[in-house]
Amino acid sequence: MTATNNKNSVTVTDNRTGHSWDMPILQGTCGPNVIDIRKLYSESGCFTYDPGFTSTGSCDSSITYIDGDEGILRHRGYSIEDLAAKSDFMEVCYLLLNGELPNQSEKSEFKNQITYHTMLHEQMQYFYRGFRRDSHPMAVMVGVVGALSAFYHDSTDIRDPHQRLIASHRLIAKMPTIAAYAYKYSIGQPFVYPQNNLSYAANFLHMTFSVPCEEYVASPALVRAMDRIFILHADHEQNASTSTVRIAGSSGANPFACIAAGIASLWGPAHGGANEAVLRMLQQIGHKDNIPAFIERAKDKNDPFRLMGFGHRVYKNYDPRASVMRESCHEVLTELGINDPLLELAMELERVALEDPYFTEKKLFPNVDFYSGIILRAMNFPTSMFTVLFALARTVGWVAQWKEMIEDPNHKISRPRQLYLGADAREFVPMDKR
Ligand code: ACO
Repeated sequence: MTATNNKNSVTVTDNRTGHSWDMPILQGTCGPNVIDIRKLYSESGCFTYDPGFTSTGSCDSSITYIDGDEGILRHRGYSIEDLAAKSDFMEVCYLLLNGELPNQSEKSEFKNQITYHTMLHEQMQYFYRGFRRDSHPMAVMVGVVGALSAFYHDSTDIRDPHQRLIASHRLIAKMPTIAAYAYKYSIGQPFVYPQNNLSYAANFLHMTFSVPCEEYVASPALVRAMDRIFILHADHEQNASTSTVRIAGSSGANPFACIAAGIASLWGPAHGGANEAVLRMLQQIGHKDNIPAFIERAKDKNDPFRLMGFGHRVYKNYDPRASVMRESCHEVLTELGINDPLLELAMELERVALEDPYFTEKKLFPNVDFYSGIILRAMNFPTSMFTVLFALARTVGWVAQWKEMIEDPNHKISRPRQLYLGADAREFVPMDKR
């Protein structure tokens, strides 16, 4: 096959037969154009081949834009730097779901809607008790979020816009409660009910760290840092977990089941599990004198070790979220009066890696996970909760992307094809002849 690029289309020619097909080129608001290959199979009898989807756009979307070469991330046109500095998580949720920043009354109304749904069905407490106390909280999250569909039947009909809206609000509102309960269960403390007079971030800290016998007030610095962490993780276009949510949802599955699928995908160390892995790696490195040896291991093709928190499928520049996270990290540690040697170690590791041609030539820069673990540790979260916090914050992105897909009249069930390399048709061999 050869492809020729005309102005508004690409002509694909099968060199064996000489047949040609014109494939239209579609232009987005910004970013690379895409070749529309929807008719390729019916016209040419060929599929495209792109394992890992490195060159494949799976949908159109108006939610998030990333320019990986320039290190740009925008939600609905607003830069992540502006949102992190000038907005709050509730506003970002509204923006992702509705396309515009809310005015004052829209924001109050939205906050009320979310607040109204923060409690969990009381029966769900017993559901937690089925897990071992030492379960990984992400395992609990996958189970409990999936189980929401067994508790909230009145918001699982995806064809009803009102039910879709209620399911979206329920997911965003209940996720902090579910996450905090997962933590409380793991340490054997009683579940703490949500407090609706608190902000989203403050309420989450309250449910996580307070105990019934003492008053707990989170410092404004902590609340602000938590809120900013939520903003930085809110959405990131068609990454593995979001694509998982879209694929699960494309079959018409209910939103709670789809988000549980997204959580399962996020758990992997190549995705959301990396922040946990970064901290383990820094602890393993231990001292800056050991950095060169670990850098050598990361470069060695025969060693499975990778520099966790480094590299990204899309960013071939500094991840803009990592810059904000790094700044936040310094602020939080200063506010809390913590001198964490792991921060020094992380900064030194970053410096050494970025001076090494292996990393610069492959365009491997720190990603969002590189510094987030250090802030979360300073805030007293155990390592096993790091990916849970990511899932909590990403829920709004998953929900917005799921809703966009369901509301697109052209959406179809996602069904990729394959290049089959297995055995061709053969005679069945009876047991006594094998
Ligand atoms: N350390 C050492 N080498 C690396 C790293 C790393 N962290 N990341 C990529 N490379 C190398 C690969 O070995 C490969 O080398 P090669 O071309 O010689 O074979 C090259 O860089 C390209 O890497 P790929 O794995 O092909 O890139 P891909 O886009 O598939 O992977 C990923 C991106 C998974 C994020 C990868 O960089 C990685 O594993 N990073 C560490 C885990 C991590 O931090 N994940 C968090 C991502 S952000 C998020 O999900 C929120």
